Amino acid sequence: MTTQTVQHMTAIDALLSHVSIRKYTDQPIDEATLQQILDAARRAPTSSNTQTYSIVVVRDAETKRKLAVLTGNQKHVETSAVFMAFVADLSRLKRANALHDADLAINNELSMVAIVDASLVGMAAQVAAESLGLGTVMIGGARNQPEEIAQLLHLPEGAFIVYGMCIGWPAERPPQKPRLPEAEVVHYERYQQPDDGLLHAYDAALAAHYRGEGRETPDAAWTSVMARQFNQPRRPFLRAVLEKLGFNFN
Ligand SMILES: Cc1cc2nc3c(=O)[nH]c(=O)nc-3n(C[C@H](O)[C@H](O)[C@H](O)COP(=O)(O)O)c2cc1C
Repeated sequence: MTTQTVQHMTAIDALLSHVSIRKYTDQPIDEATLQQILDAARRAPTSSNTQTYSIVVVRDAETKRKLAVLTGNQKHVETSAVFMAFVADLSRLKRANALHDADLAINNELSMVAIVDASLVGMAAQVAAESLGLGTVMIGGARNQPEEIAQLLHLPEGAFIVYGMCIGWPAERPPQKPRLPEAEVVHYERYQQPDDGLLHAYDAALAAHYRGEGRETPDAAWTSVMARQFNQPRRPFLRAVLEKLGFNFN
């Protein structure tokens, strides 16, 4: 087992140096470090103080192995030291309502509140973990089979995994992936329709990045991949499955 020299970073440095890490050493994450991540994550802001999320911390090797399969055979889910499931959880509000003889009215808005809360707490956990020198990658593949994951993790009715996150001590630090040009995503005072030239510039920058890593890529490295991936509805089963799990998107 290799022991990592831990470099702590400020939040701003952690955010500016972020890159997803999918290869980890076999060093475990000690309890104090894990607790710090959870303490920081739980300080995340939350809509109307509803705190409509739960985190399931998975360290058991067999459960991680099953999760790796359920998330689309993602090896890093199995090899991570810790997998955190960020769960949109309305079951607690149901319990709070029941304590006052009220029924929770679940609609599209409340379902979104829970998804946003789970997302914010996960992002806070990621920044915390990376500021402590850990490597992470979020796992949206968790929505491939949310019902099976709900069963595996014993989630109550009204809870589903929005995404997961692998955490471990990094065994690699790949170059940072370029982002869209600032003018494509940031607007001052009012939205100004960006020029497609910015997308072409990003295609070229991303293609150069992938080729630098020895990966094959089309010249239009971003736009053509987005066009191929999103010209059909993704996970069309999801709405029905989430409604079965207790959510409502009406
Ligand atoms: C919500 C979400 C879900 C993601 N799902 C996966 C996933 O299932 N598997 C994976 O390897 N990476 C996943 N990623 C990581 C993205 O691919 C990655 O953040 C993106 O390509 C940018 O790369 P970077 O994080 O290294 O800058 C996910 C990221 C987010 C935010």
